[in-house]
Amino acid sequence: MILPIVAYGHPILRKKAIDITPDETGIEQFISDLWETMYATDGVGLAAPQVNRSIRIFVIDGNPLSEKYPEAKNFRKCFINARIIEEEGEPWAYSEGCLSIPEIHEPVERKPRVHIQYLDEQFQPHDEWFEGANARVIQHEYDHLEGILFTDHLSTLRKTMLRRRLSDISHGNIKIDYRMIFPVNKKRK
Ligand code: NI
Repeated sequence: MILPIVAYGHPILRKKAIDITPDETGIEQFISDLWETMYATDGVGLAAPQVNRSIRIFVIDGNPLSEKYPEAKNFRKCFINARIIEEEGEPWAYSEGCLSIPEIHEPVERKPRVHIQYLDEQFQPHDEWFEGANARVIQHEYDHLEGILFTDHLSTLRKTMLRRRLSDISHGNIKIDYRMIFPVNKKRK
């Protein structure tokens, strides 16, 4: 089932998501819905809070980035109860977007290597390092579990300049081709 995406300004995007257990009700179906929703919206990653569930799961398929970033080829993973242990390297800028913040793309600086522990779809534990574009997408999705959005990483000036467009997104004053949940249902005149 394709789930609606929660738009910028919704309080669930600001909550710290909680760990799950394998007996969490309907978890298999939910993960399958996450994949389906991510592909239907042309995302390279999707985190559970973005579909209105504050639990620690995100899915990533980096293949669309692989032409420019070879490390992203065949990078397709589900991360459950993930914890970033450390990040390292010289921060680099990459123009990020987010399904919850449509049509806004801004360069964000992040470190190029990330060490993360997580469970896969079968709840098997992993302890791995990821680099480049893969690290980038993990950091972006992981932020969603912590209640952080990519716009939070921008300068005060950029944030001020984006304020009106972000408010339009919260109010649903945007054109998008996927279903969304808007936090403010009153249309601005
Ligand atoms: Ni996002």
